[in-house]
Amino acid sequence: MPRILIAGCGYVGQAAADLFQAAGWAVEGWTRSPECAAATAVRPYLVRNVDISRRAQVAEHAGSFDAVMHCASSRGGDADVYRQVYVNGARNLLEVFAGSKALFTSSTSVYAQRDGSWVTEESETKPARETGRILLETETLVLDRGGIVARLAGICGPRRAALLSKFLNGTAVIDPENDRYVNQVHRDDIASALFFLLGRKEEGAEIYNVVDDQPILQTECYRWLAQRLNRPLPPIGKLTDQRKRGDSNKRVSNAKLRRLGWTPQYPTFADSMETSILPSFAEIFSRNTRS
Ligand SMILES: NC(=O)c1ccc[n+]([C@@H]2O[C@H](COP(=O)([O-])OP(=O)(O)OC[C@H]3O[C@@H](n4cnc5c(N)ncnc54)[C@H](OP(=O)(O)O)[C@@H]3O)[C@@H](O)[C@H]2O)c1
Repeated sequence: MPRILIAGCGYVGQAAADLFQAAGWAVEGWTRSPECAAATAVRPYLVRNVDISRRAQVAEHAGSFDAVMHCASSRGGDADVYRQVYVNGARNLLEVFAGSKALFTSSTSVYAQRDGSWVTEESETKPARETGRILLETETLVLDRGGIVARLAGICGPRRAALLSKFLNGTAVIDPENDRYVNQVHRDDIASALFFLLGRKEEGAEIYNVVDDQPILQTECYRWLAQRLNRPLPPIGKLTDQRKRGDSNKRVSNAKLRRLGWTPQYPTFADSMETSILPSFAEIFSRNTRS
């Protein structure tokens, strides 16, 4: 039975863990806080409380794994937190599990293009922010050890949808002069991509974009939501919020991963919304109404 360690068993990590477990892998998941480890203890695999930024803790829980996935998140955080979780975390995992196939979930925020152009894994990566540069530094560590880098687009899925939340809580703004492409991917499609990549026989350091088929202008997302939910469009205004990982405007291509045979279950924004996200929000609304 192949064995996988999922270091960072959060939103994406848990979905991946469930998939590997269902496919017959022996899974171990790590979280940083005891609360999160306790909350995930109901899962049908072992979940431990191990901080990957602490070398001694990682070494203390060393074991034999075919694959080790770094899927921990800085949850926002400043450059120091990024360095701890990503660079130090990856270095510790790579050193302690030197014989395992490594995979790091990076981000498409490393592409800083602002002209709406298509970007592939070959495109320039020049993030404007320190946090983006830290992700790139982590990628280099992983690639240098023959690992895989999965650059994830904006994650959406059940109970997680940034644009829908803004639309519903009234903070969405349509800024015609600053419209931009949004690149998203459903949590379950990320899990299937990670499973697909780690299940391949071929070894070797590679980067893959993990994103749906159709980048979409932010305004179009709001138009779609307004029509679907029968609500007014957000007001026209000036976008003032600075986005955590940079203010890029690009269309990220998934062609490399698709060429290998991965197929997203939710290829478009409308697909994810219609069949997964809106139903998950409806459940929350009705729970609120009942309580
Ligand atoms: N959010 C996005 O749209 C987006 C876009 C592109 C890429 N990504 C990347 O995708 C990955 C997965 O994100 P996610 O949304 O699944 O994150 P998440 O839900 O916040 O989960 C992160 C998990 O990592 C654990 N963790 C954090 N620091 C840790 C540490 N030092 N040691 C061990 N575990 C630690 C957390 O444990 P505790 O809960 O106990 O702290 C949690 O279980 C991250 O690498 C993120 O940067 C995210």
